[in-house]
Amino acid sequence: MVVVQDIAGVRDLCSAARADGKRVAVVPTMGALHEGHLVLVDRARSKGQFVVVTIFVNPTQFGPGEDLSRYPRDLEGDVAKLEQRGVDLVFTPNVGDMYPNGHATTVHVSGLTEHLCGAQRPSHFDGVALIVAKLLNIVGPSTAVFGRKDYQQLRVIRRMVRDLDMPIEVLGVPTVRDADGLAKSSRNAYLGPKERERALAISRGLTAAHYAFGSGERRVDELLGAVEAFVKVSADAIDYVTAADPETLEPLPRHAICSERLLLAVAARFAGTRLIDNTVIGEDSPPLARESRR
Ligand code: PAF
Repeated sequence: MVVVQDIAGVRDLCSAARADGKRVAVVPTMGALHEGHLVLVDRARSKGQFVVVTIFVNPTQFGPGEDLSRYPRDLEGDVAKLEQRGVDLVFTPNVGDMYPNGHATTVHVSGLTEHLCGAQRPSHFDGVALIVAKLLNIVGPSTAVFGRKDYQQLRVIRRMVRDLDMPIEVLGVPTVRDADGLAKSSRNAYLGPKERERALAISRGLTAAHYAFGSGERRVDELLGAVEAFVKVSADAIDYVTAADPETLEPLPRHAICSERLLLAVAARFAGTRLIDNTVIGEDSPPLARESRR
């Protein structure tokens, strides 16, 4: 495995791999890698013979007052994990190379970015779309792999790749969870034991909605209520608990009756840590195998 910081070096190695007849698969990350990322790496390996992981804490996707400066960083630990997982190339660019003085181009995916997290973090998805477009241009992969925990991000990237005619398959991988249901996230490192316990309300609420749906419930109000019953009593603040169309991400009114698939998405805060989670009922497995009322 090689770790490369400069853009030209990465381009050369990826071109050489393609010239060798290898398919390149990439996993873009912001580091502080956990098992969820490593599952993405495994999926990338199933798609390509040359696997690239990018590690870059992208400043343009953090808003003012967000956690850019304290975002967890552990390059040495990350590199060790990726080496063990059989990655070929780790790209660790620096901010000055990715955003040279005078950079003036934006990438905005309209519509999909207006709802859910986009409503509260107005410039977030512009930053994500810009950096992902740049990383994909540098690496030139056949496949790019992302987690479904960031469901809105996945949809935004899929739309960007389609709209910009990038010849890349965008693969979405189911959320990886701890045994108790908490979705794996680099930001879980911020949680103390008490907040972590309270944060389980999110996956429990989403699970309750799954079981209600499985028993025939189709009223959006009831399904949202099933999630809220858990999250409202545990979170310090709720950014949103939303039912939305899984394709357009348009929120459904509470009086709506849902069809066969429904996105339920949550963003909530536990002692200042903002966690997100989601499930597409009618498509995903419930976060927990059994309903828990604890
Ligand atoms: O999901 C992430 O870690 C980031 O948003 C991404 C896709 C690497 C872009 O910075």
